[in-house]
This record gives sequence, structure tokens and C-alpha cells, in this order.
Amino acid sequence: MLDLGCGDGELLAVFADHGAQALAGVDLSAQQLELARHRPSWPPPTRGSRGAAARRIRDRHRENPAADVTVRATVAGMTTPAEVFLRDYHDRKPEAASELAVAGHIVGDDRTVYEVFADHVGVPVRVLDLGCGDGALLAVLAARGARTQAGIDLSPGHIRRALERPALAGADLRAGRAQELPFADGAFDAVVSFMALMLMVDVEKVVAEAARVLAPGGTFALGVGGPGEGALEVFPKIARPLFAVVPEDRRVPTAGDPRTRTRAGLDELLAPAGFEPVAWHEVLIDVSGPPEQVWQTCCETYYQMDSLDETQLTGLRTAFKVATRDQVTAEGRLPAKARVHVAVTRLRS
Ligand SMILES: C[S@@+](CC[C@H](N)C(=O)[O-])C[C@H]1O[C@@H](n2cnc3c(N)ncnc32)[C@H](O)[C@@H]1O
Repeated sequence: MLDLGCGDGELLAVFADHGAQALAGVDLSAQQLELARHRPSWPPPTRGSRGAAARRIRDRHRENPAADVTVRATVAGMTTPAEVFLRDYHDRKPEAASELAVAGHIVGDDRTVYEVFADHVGVPVRVLDLGCGDGALLAVLAARGARTQAGIDLSPGHIRRALERPALAGADLRAGRAQELPFADGAFDAVVSFMALMLMVDVEKVVAEAARVLAPGGTFALGVGGPGEGALEVFPKIARPLFAVVPEDRRVPTAGDPRTRTRAGLDELLAPAGFEPVAWHEVLIDVSGPPEQVWQTCCETYYQMDSLDETQLTGLRTAFKVATRDQVTAEGRLPAKARVHVAVTRLRS
């Protein structure tokens, strides 16, 4: 028996218990394979734990009926460990991305960051969102008059949420990788990507795909993260040393090309695919509030928080409280601002 995308070997163990012989598995995650090899109950678990394992798998697939489909896509599409992490993370927390983006207000503007971003896109007739999450940005563009909306995201959980938005009832939304777009050449007038390109591996391929599916003269608009202010400047300084010492088997696989975060880096990536130099704008999101609320925002901003154990989390929380104590205002608010850079370019005709 061969299990494609076997993860930590849970399913293989169940089959072994039913008498299957010559078991084999493949998975793109070296971490998962290590876990499979070192199963304390390997060879096969006892009958009792077999029942529990089978129930867990069944329940997971019930919660996420697209999970097995994705596993197949994973193997076919050469998904990386970082992408497997992102897909699973966002499937577990399908509300995480857009809730965070609309948690604060834009400095000097009381609209959401998606509204401000959409100003830079204009009103395309046909728009595609790379790493569309739960469709928050596409819904804004649809409300402004974009007639054809399409999106792609690693997380089937996000795609399901996006499909529930009335504004996206007719949208073409797919679970998949931005490196391999299932859309025709020249199919869109605009391609957008908000806080997603900076997480993608093989970013030259993503840029080449964006150029392929854009019509000549089409717009490519990107939102990428920049350094935060106030508590959002303090937090990474104290959290990063902790992330660096997380044991290998719990570490969050990192991805993303640092060039996607700077204007010069983006120009370097985009020019070979036929894009003009980017126009560069800055948006500040004020997420100030009571210290506990700001702490929660900081936690939700970093995927690596997923890898900390209880002791590390408590230590970080204490260190954060001490480091930001003097910044709390007389009204009990801790100042914090998130920075997003908006880069806009056009495909040369
Ligand atoms: C921080 S979230 C932002 C989501 C959305 N743009 C929003 O503003 O709510 C990043 C998203 O990028 C997606 N993503 C990362 N790499 C991807 C890839 N190679 N192809 C498609 N989606 C990807 C993740 O699954 C995640 O939903």
C-alpha cells in the first residue's frame, strides 16, 4: 500500500493494523516524514488508538471536505513545506487574514485598507486576486463595478468563505497555487495581491504567471507589509530571538522572497516579465488600543506564534508588557501602527 501525501503516517498505521503489508508513503514535508518514522506506536498502533486515529482523520475530512482533494493537488503541484503550513494554518483560521486587516482604521482615512488599496487598482472589468484569502478585497472590487472576479488561494477553507459572500456569487474562485494559474492568457485587466506575494516561493514564476494572464497594459497591484510603529515595532524585536530558538521539529517553515518587500526589489523582479517600474504608496493602519488587545493583534500578525509552547508564550507576553509599559497613554491605550506598502505597475503593451 502506498499513501501519497502520507503526513505523519496516521492512515498507514490504520491500514497496517488491518493487515496491510509492505507499507510506503511519500510526503513533501520532511518534518511529517520524521514524525511517521518515529511513531512511538510504530509498527502499527493498538486497536484502541487505531479507532481514535481513524476518528480524527474522519472528523478532519468532515470539517474540511476539500482536504483530500488538496492533498492530491499538493503532490501534483509540488507544494513546498511552507505552502503546506500556510494552507493548514488558514484552513484552521479562515477568518484570520481579513479580520486583522480591518481591525484598525487607516490613518487620515476612516475606510478599510481594502477600500484604500482598491483606489490604486481603479475599476477593472476582469480582476484576479492572487492569495485572495476570504475574498474581502475582491468583494470591494466587485462593489466598485469589476464584472468578472477570480481568485486563487492555497486554503480551501478561505475559498469556501469567499464563495459565501453574496458579492462573489458568480466569481471563479479556486484552491491552488499562484505559481500555476489555471486561467487563460490575457484573461484579466488587473491582477491584485494583498499581503500574499511576500509569502510566496518561486516568486519569479508568480510574476511570470501574472504577466501571462494579464492583457497588454493591464494593472498589477500589490500590498506588501512594511515595518510597524509603536508596539508593532517593539514586538518583533523581542519575539524574533525566541522564534530563532524554537526546536527544528516545531519551527514554522518560512518562505517568501525579501525582494517583494521593497520598491527596488519589486522593480528587479517585475522588469524581466515586462512590467513598468512600480508607483509606491504607503498606508498606515492604526491598531492602537488597550494593551491586551494590542498584544492579541501582535500575536495574530506572526505565523511563528504557532510554534511557541505555553512557557515561551508566557515569557514573551511578560517581556512585551515590560517593554511597552512606558508607551501606554494616560487613557490606557498602547499606540501601534501597521504599515502596508502598495506597489502598482502596468504590463507594457
Ligand atoms: C496574509 S493572507 C492574506 C489573504 C488576503 N489577501 C487578505 O487580504 O485577507 C496570505 C494568503 O496568501 C495565501 N498564499 C500564500 N502563498 C500562496 C500561493 N503560492 N498561492 C496561492 N495563495 C497563497 C495564503 O493561503 C493566505 O490566504
